[in-house]
Amino acid sequence: MFGRGSRGSRQAEQEAGYTAHLGAPVAVDSAVRLDAVTKTYGRGNSAVHALRGIDLSIPRSTFTAVMGPSGSGKSTFLHCAAGLDRPDAGRVLLGTDDLTRMKENDLTRLRRTRLGFVFQAFNLLPSLTVEKNVLLPLRLAGERADRRRAAEVLTMVGLDNHAGRRPAQLSGGQQQRVAIARALVTRPDVLFADEPTGALDTTTAAEVLTLLRRAVDDSGATIVMVTHDPVAASYADRVVFLAAGNLAGELYRPTPEAVAARMVDLSQVGARQGQAA
Ligand SMILES: Nc1ncnc2c1ncn2[C@@H]1O[C@H](COP(=O)(O)OP(=O)(O)O)[C@@H](O)[C@H]1O
Ligand SMILES: [Mg+2]
Repeated sequence: MFGRGSRGSRQAEQEAGYTAHLGAPVAVDSAVRLDAVTKTYGRGNSAVHALRGIDLSIPRSTFTAVMGPSGSGKSTFLHCAAGLDRPDAGRVLLGTDDLTRMKENDLTRLRRTRLGFVFQAFNLLPSLTVEKNVLLPLRLAGERADRRRAAEVLTMVGLDNHAGRRPAQLSGGQQQRVAIARALVTRPDVLFADEPTGALDTTTAAEVLTLLRRAVDDSGATIVMVTHDPVAASYADRVVFLAAGNLAGELYRPTPEAVAARMVDLSQVGARQGQAA
């Protein structure tokens, strides 16, 4: 559906998806959907309401950035959406599968076969070559080590000639590109990224973000990325803002300036709430 058609028609389809979502109960072809997801840490007086009823649909083949002040619930959101943590209430649907009803074993298998993860700290295994790192998700999923697929994703990230190296022999940006190749090797339904450029300089960050953008545009990947950087967020199709565990608006075709302005608004609201509390 989201093939290699012109950018214009792809965009129109994406917007149709979003609009259908905003118009509510219409079934959208969502990669992930959250229905009334809540998550509270602790109890009683010390309870922290990290997510307070999040409804969100992420259409396939789109790039979504999640932003919000520190403590607004971004990591909790990502962990719940990716089946790494269980909400207290509500549903998380990956396609038509409800993650909140799955047994732990099934959830683990689903994460290995249908989701990809990229973290700020790369998390490559230092003793393995680049190629073996990239093949790891296939090994963990009990699939054969498809070296041709490894070469394909390493070519996508521009590192096909580094397959035999070890992570320590690569720059930070190159290591993150390996991590992206590793996350894409299983052709996941969704790639979740938590501050993927947080440890990188501006130029290297731009390379990594361009790769993520290309994975969506050229290969139809679906990406959900948490970031605090308005420039990083501007690579996305849509930015979703969180504040104190609630959705606090969204921006389509974001510019860094528009994102930064929203963030200033949100932090001022947060400061006023802090004073009132
Ligand atoms: N394991 C935990 N135990 C208790 N409180 C937590 C835990 N994880 C997060 N929190 C709290 O939940 C809120 C949201 O946290 P988090 O999702 O990490 O926000 P963000 O990623 O936007 O900084 C914060 O107030 C945080 O202190
Ligand atoms: Mg966080």
